[in-house]
Amino acid sequence: MNKQQAAERVKRLRDLINDYRYHYHVLDESIMSDAAADSLKHELAQLEEQYPDLITPDSPTQRVAGASLPGFKQVGHTSRMLSLNDVFDEAEVEAWQDRITKLLPESTKLEYFADIKMDGLACALVYQDGVLSRGVTRGDGFVGEDVTANIRTIDSIPLRLRHDKKFEPFMHGRTEIRGEIVMYKDDFAKLNERRAKAGQPLFANPRNTAAGTIRQLNPKLVASRPLHFHAYDLLRDNESEVLTNQYAYQALRALGFLANKDAAVFKTVKEVTRFAKRWETRRQTLPFNTDGLVVKVNDRQLYRRLGVVGKAPRAAVAIKYAAEQSTTKVKDIFVSIGRTGAATPVAMLEPVVIAGTTVQMATLHNEGEIKRKDIRIGDTVIVHKAGDIIPEVIEPLTKLRDGSEKIYKWPVRCPECNTKLAKRKVDEAVWRCPNQHCPSRSWKRIEHFASKAALDIEGLGEKNVIALMDAKLVKDQADIYTLREEDVIKLERFAKISSGKLVAAIQSKKEPPLSRFIYGLGIRHVGVQTAVDLANHFRSLQALRDATIDELAAVDGVGEVVAESIVEWFSEPHNEHLLAKFKRFGVKPTPVKKVGGKLSGKNFVVTGTLESMGREEAAERIRAHGGTFQTSVGKDTDYLVVGANVGESKLTKAAKLGTLRLNEEEFLKML
Ligand code: IVH
Repeated sequence: MNKQQAAERVKRLRDLINDYRYHYHVLDESIMSDAAADSLKHELAQLEEQYPDLITPDSPTQRVAGASLPGFKQVGHTSRMLSLNDVFDEAEVEAWQDRITKLLPESTKLEYFADIKMDGLACALVYQDGVLSRGVTRGDGFVGEDVTANIRTIDSIPLRLRHDKKFEPFMHGRTEIRGEIVMYKDDFAKLNERRAKAGQPLFANPRNTAAGTIRQLNPKLVASRPLHFHAYDLLRDNESEVLTNQYAYQALRALGFLANKDAAVFKTVKEVTRFAKRWETRRQTLPFNTDGLVVKVNDRQLYRRLGVVGKAPRAAVAIKYAAEQSTTKVKDIFVSIGRTGAATPVAMLEPVVIAGTTVQMATLHNEGEIKRKDIRIGDTVIVHKAGDIIPEVIEPLTKLRDGSEKIYKWPVRCPECNTKLAKRKVDEAVWRCPNQHCPSRSWKRIEHFASKAALDIEGLGEKNVIALMDAKLVKDQADIYTLREEDVIKLERFAKISSGKLVAAIQSKKEPPLSRFIYGLGIRHVGVQTAVDLANHFRSLQALRDATIDELAAVDGVGEVVAESIVEWFSEPHNEHLLAKFKRFGVKPTPVKKVGGKLSGKNFVVTGTLESMGREEAAERIRAHGGTFQTSVGKDTDYLVVGANVGESKLTKAAKLGTLRLNEEEFLKML
């Protein structure tokens, strides 16, 4: 990018970031996620670093957070309310430790106090002789807004400090309590449900809602919204009254405040990062949102001695969890042909790290989605990635366009085999390559057949399948059984050991469980659970093949659409040919004994990541006990098993339908 291009980009970035800030702080609404905005700010800062003379005093990078609103009295903070610098991994925590230990006498033994970082708004409460006299927002850290009337409606804020002999001195003179005002996730979901019913616009997230509520000029409205105050600091004029942060938390609890139970003292950075990792996977179980941990030097004298740089104390940092959204540019768009022929557009991206992994491609779902979202080649887009989910382009940032973006022209023909793309029904969203022998479809069918949930053949992933096909050793799923070590070994990819291993792995799967074999055939709409239902019902491939649409549709869990798709699959000559080949090569799918288990008749959905097992294993264990594993929450779902990193949507749906929620521990007990 040359300087002029950079100048233009900088201007567009600033406008959009300012827009975001205006909506966020003044209108209390959100036009994009914090993570996406952070990503834009990061790009802006980088450009300004590269071209320092582009920096202007009004650039968003030059700003100190938190403008005040008119309507509230401005109040100065007795001691400044600081922010925290962010660190993202163990190495950065260690670097922080190194920086501060260098500033302290060599013999100093540091202890760390860590707590969950709550996603709400900071508030300072002043108690005079034990009585609440004032509540002030953070504002710009020096001056905040007097929101006393509003915070007095929050139940978890004591109007008078609780009497406790041990902490008697805090009942005298001035005691300042700092903490976070949060709205719990459950309450937020309920509030939005009520608003949806009343036809009111929905709130973006719990934090904005909490912030917007506290800045209402009408305390009655505040009282009607459920808010909670979680304390994290206690200040006294005489600092020697509170020697450690751990002691401050003890005092906070004794004086009648909520202070997180999980906050704890750690002796080493290793222990702290272990604690952070534990909470990263468990954070879903917390009632409020969190995006990391706060770590402070426990000894408050050392804490003060380390001082402040900019807006943040040296003695504390926020360990942030990797964001699940970021912004990047679409370099190109291409169409990928799947095993069933579905043509899925994929965006090639400028590589970007999201949630700890580098993302270079993201799905655009289908042609209609590209048009609806108006995603163009060259656009800066918001990309989302969470857990095992395929990265997805959320939206283009149209305000950042400079005119060089190109509209993607949907192809008429399959990019792999040049066959004309077609739709099954006119109103269907998905275009398909109808050519059964399209190379892309063929290798994906073989890869699917060998995949974990199907025949689970080790060593038969995408690259090896393509190599075997290129060498003309296999054309379809059945051909893999004809592979001989001496043929495979000639291929560049396969050294002696791996060719032997591969052939042995394939030969060990000559009597696969019927359900896995059915799933492995890749019949449209037949997922793992449907395959299990079919295998249990028909007990042989022949019986399944002979079944009519009505007989199929009568099977529990199989509807009309699935039944039609199965009959269609068996009626296609090349599939008949495939099954004949399997037979010829001695492949005998075998039904597994039915187990009537303790979960029989119960339907489960698992959402998020479980600590003790993967999704596949969870599904298998549910099935082993006779239960059904579903992929989405519906009326007939009995249990929603909630792991870590869960999106709000499944939870909201389950709440609406009254589905029972299980955490991992409860689920394990059931198993
Ligand atoms: S301790 C120097 N503990 O995070 C401020 N802060 O980025 C140290 N926050 O303004 C504050 N949870 O509003 C602390 N357990 C926690 C917190 C927490 C959330 C907020 C707080 C602060 C911001 C700093």
